[in-house]
Formats: sequence, C-alpha cells, structure tokens
Amino acid sequence: MTKIDLNNLDIRICNSNDVKDIYNIQEIVINNFKDEEKGYFLPFTEEWYLRIVNNPDKDGEIYGAFYENKMIAWIFLSVSTRMEQIKSFIPDINGKCADIDGVIVLPEYRGNGLQKILVNYLEKKAKEKGIDNVVAEVTFENDYSLKNLEDLGYEIKTWYKKDENIKRHILLKKLNTTFIDKNNILKVVDNLILMYKRGELGGEVMPEDANPHFEKSSLENYLYFTLPMALNYQRNSYTLWESALKTYNDEETKFVFNPKVCLEKTFEEVQYALTKYKVALQKQKQTEIWLSLCNTFVELFDGDIRKLFNNLDNDVDKIRNYIQKENKKKFPYLSGTKICNYWMYVIYQYTDRKYTNIENLTVAPDTHVCKATHKLGLINDEEFNSSNVQQIVIDRWQELFRNTKYKPIDIHTPLWLWSRNGFKEVK
Ligand SMILES: CC(C)(COP(=O)(O)OP(=O)(O)OC[C@H]1O[C@@H](n2cnc3c(N)ncnc32)[C@H](O)[C@@H]1OP(=O)(O)O)[C@@H](O)C(=O)NCCC(=O)NCCS
Repeated sequence: MTKIDLNNLDIRICNSNDVKDIYNIQEIVINNFKDEEKGYFLPFTEEWYLRIVNNPDKDGEIYGAFYENKMIAWIFLSVSTRMEQIKSFIPDINGKCADIDGVIVLPEYRGNGLQKILVNYLEKKAKEKGIDNVVAEVTFENDYSLKNLEDLGYEIKTWYKKDENIKRHILLKKLNTTFIDKNNILKVVDNLILMYKRGELGGEVMPEDANPHFEKSSLENYLYFTLPMALNYQRNSYTLWESALKTYNDEETKFVFNPKVCLEKTFEEVQYALTKYKVALQKQKQTEIWLSLCNTFVELFDGDIRKLFNNLDNDVDKIRNYIQKENKKKFPYLSGTKICNYWMYVIYQYTDRKYTNIENLTVAPDTHVCKATHKLGLINDEEFNSSNVQQIVIDRWQELFRNTKYKPIDIHTPLWLWSRNGFKEVK
C-alpha cells in the first residue's frame, strides 16, 4: 500500500480528457477482484463514461482524486432518471435525490481513507446543487464500503436483487439533517472541560459570583438566586447580578428580596427599589413580574421557596413540570425554557440543594450556549437559526451524553465561557 500525503491530494470534476483514466482505474480494480467480489462494482464502457462527462446535467458528475498528477480514485454522483426508481424503494423520502453510482480506489492506494474523502466531497457538491438526499448501493459482503458509508451517517433502508447472484443494500443519507460524529465531539468536549478546569477559558468568574455570600442553605440565599433570575432575559448577566448586589447592599432597597415585605409595599415603592440600580430595566413589566413571583411564593410556599424543592422530592423533572406546565402562569419568565433550566442550575451551584436526578438537568440554552453548540457542530446552521433552537440544543446535549461519564450541566459553564471569550482554539 502507498501511504499518501493528503495535503497534496487534488480533487476535481472530470472532463473528457479524464475518461481514459476513469476507465483504466475501473479495469485495474475489476481485474483485481476475487471471484466473490465481482458484484461490488459492475463495469461500464469507455463510451458510457464519455457520455456522462459530456452530459453533467442529465447524468451527473464524476470527481477524480489526483496524486502527483495521477488519477488514483474517483466517485460518480449520478442524477439520472433511475433515481425515480430508487426513490420508489425508500418510503418517506422527500426532495431531490442523487446516487453514488460507483466509487473506486486503485488497490495500491487503499487504506488512505479516500472513499470517505470522496464521499464528503460529493456531498458538498450535491448540497451546492440543492440535492437533499444521497443514496448509495452496496453489495452484500462489501464490508469495507459499508463501514465507510455507515461511519459517514448513511443508513441501510432496504435491499434489492441486482441479478441472480448480487444482492445490494440501499443506503440513504439526508443531507440537511445533521449527522453528528459523536466520538469526535466528545473528544473536543474532553478538552474543553480540561481547559475550563485549568482556567484557560478566560477565568472562572461567573455573573452570579457577585452575590452577598449568604449561608448556602438559608432562605435569603435561595430567594436571592431566584427573583433576579426571572429578569435575566436577553441582557448582560454580569450587570444584572452586579445590580442585584447593589440593591441588596442598600438598606433602602434590600427589602425586594423578601417576598412578604414586597407584598406589603406599594407598587411604586417596589418599582423604585428595583429600578434604583437597574435590576429592572422595564419599569412596569418587570416590577409586575417580580411582584407576581412574590405573590406565588407567599401563596404556595408561605414565602419559602425551598419548600418547592422539598415538595417535589428534589426531582428535576417534577420541578420542571410543575413550573413549566402545571403552574406556568404563576411563574412568569421563570417558566421559560432557558430561564427555568438556568435557574435550577444556579440553585444547584450556589445553594445547598442536591437534586435526585441531576443528570436530567439540561444545559441552559442561552445565546452563548447555543453559539458554542453550533460551533461544535452539534447543531447545523438551519437549527441554529430556527425559533426552536433552545429545545434542540437541550435535546442534543442530552442525547450526546447518554451513557457517557458526563451530565449536561458539566458542559454548561465551559460552553458559556468558551463563547463569551471568543472561541479560543481547543487543543
Ligand atoms: C471500497 C473502497 C473504495 C475503499 O477504499 P479506501 O477508501 O481506500 O479504504 P479505507 O481507507 O477505508 O480502508 C480501510 C482499511 O480497509 C482496507 N481495505 C479497503 N478496501 C479493501 C479491499 N477491497 N480489500 C481489502 N482490504 C481493503 C484498507 O487496506 C485499510 O486497511 P488498514 O486499516 O489496515 O490500512 C475500495 O476497497 C474499492 O475501491 N473497492 C472496490 C470497489 C468498491 O467496492 N466500491 C464501492 C462500491 S459501493
């Protein structure tokens, strides 16, 4: 086998001058087949290849891989009318289809990963042509090819009989859905967490670190980390928590952290206290939210928010369900997808609360966490820009960490800092 320097590999679309090489590679590969391998690749004539390269719109394109000016492998992206027949084999397939109608590597160059490189290249070209699905056929027993395609996210959908002796799997990859190379992302995650622990992601000071340092288990500590959370929506968290601290340190305004006292004051008094250091940025609306939460805490838990956790067995799912579904209206803003998760996370970090199923606590998908998730390739461009991105981010991390040593909350702060500090290179 010849090991090649992939930096010097050149891939390009073939034209009529390349037809001889395309055909020669086919001949070498076929002559090299053992009897039982004959069905892996069925030969075409030289004229047929010429027709393809001259008719890219009708037939498709052949891409050649060249090393030191010699063609050593090629792949054929077929868009022929035969696609309609192939499409009919596969249920639930929408959009434009193309077929990998052959990929071969000269025997002495095998083991350089050229099939994967060519398939990746073909997919890039297919996307540019607005193709949504790529189909591949692999003859039974052709394990090398099958493994490569499955690694790249192709799924076996069905099979058919090419002729008496040849059975083929039909595989499909939908190009617009993300195929996530889980192992690769997990390796990056390992490094990201290491960098975080070593303080290399730009320091470990989180916005919530600005706080009065109450006794962790105290009610005042729980309330301090609950009420401002509801106003932590699309704003700079550092300034929010600095404002909260100033509000607490001022004798005139500190009462806002006590729900019972808040409810005894007039709306204007609460409004004044919340706006004095800009805890509330929207005077009317955010004062209403604050008071509404105070009301809920007094009404349901006699002002003691710790009871919420106790009553719900410290179970993350029960708490989420209680706040986000059963009593959504009573928890304005705190019930939002991002804030609810983030609040539970902050409670976990800054109070003495232990959840029974901490692994179900998801990442809190704020802008930074979403950006970092996108950067890692765990969500694609379309998902990143969709209105549902927060839920997608939550689901992806949960999926990625299933059966691993990690819990979604382990990655939250590293992701946040990584994005906030401009995506330092991960070694
Ligand atoms: C399938 C094919 C394109 C894969 O080539 P490739 O991309 O160079 O293969 P890889 O780099 O993935 O090889 C991985 C390992 O499998 C080995 N391998 C790959 N194809 C092999 C083959 N046909 N016979 C024996 N070993 C093979 C490689 O030597 C390598 O071994 P190593 O890890 O010990 O170095 C190539 O085998 C081929 O041209 N086969 C004939 C045509 C064919 O079947 N095409 C696919 C139609 S769907």
